[in-house]
Amino acid sequence: MKTKLISPSLLSADFGNLERDIQMLNKSQSDWLHVDVMDGRYVPNISFGFPVMKTVKKFSKKFVDVHLMIVEPEKYVEEFIEQGADLVSIHYEACVHLHRTINLIQDKGAKAGVVLNPASPVLLLEDIIADVDLVLLMSVNPGFGGQKFIENTYKKIAETKDLILSNNSTALIQIDGGVNLDNAAKLFEAGADVLVAGNAVFSSENPEKTIELMKI
Ligand code: DX5
Ligand code: ZN
Repeated sequence: MKTKLISPSLLSADFGNLERDIQMLNKSQSDWLHVDVMDGRYVPNISFGFPVMKTVKKFSKKFVDVHLMIVEPEKYVEEFIEQGADLVSIHYEACVHLHRTINLIQDKGAKAGVVLNPASPVLLLEDIIADVDLVLLMSVNPGFGGQKFIENTYKKIAETKDLILSNNSTALIQIDGGVNLDNAAKLFEAGADVLVAGNAVFSSENPEKTIELMKI
């Protein structure tokens, strides 16, 4: 996987024009497509599930990055992979048997990511870092698009980078929440490999241009 990747979040797309928005992303310089699944239990919001995943797979030409904000993610990872997820990320805080579930995702042929909430320290990942393909650091509290970026994330990127290096891990670092044109370059500079962007892309007058500018 190459670095400096942009993963626009479908959560901020126009659901009345999902195909149009996915086709726009296909034409853009975005690398991945971020699919936020929320269950109303792990997070105080409900988004979408398998039917939307079907539409994504039907039209998207991008690498599909599924972010599960659900309790008991182990019950659903296989189906998301069958529906075409290229990467499935699960929350450290939501998964009792994290190691088993990370292995399950990889055994089923997808990349596996672990997600940390803003209040969860990076050191929690010490015994899983060598096994994961990606660490997703939440830079807002999960559940909603359009929130303000939490500055403490920069410190966590540095700590994650150290943890990756000291364990010979190949994990990518992904940042999700409040990413925009003002902080994208700084986040890449700090060590992020993949930036998720919802509101910044879809509320922009020119989403394709915004994606292009985020990669500079
Ligand atoms: C929040 C989601 C994010 C969200 C990001 O719980 O995980 O992926 O869509 O949205 P923005 O970029 O608007 O903060
Ligand atoms: Zn997300």
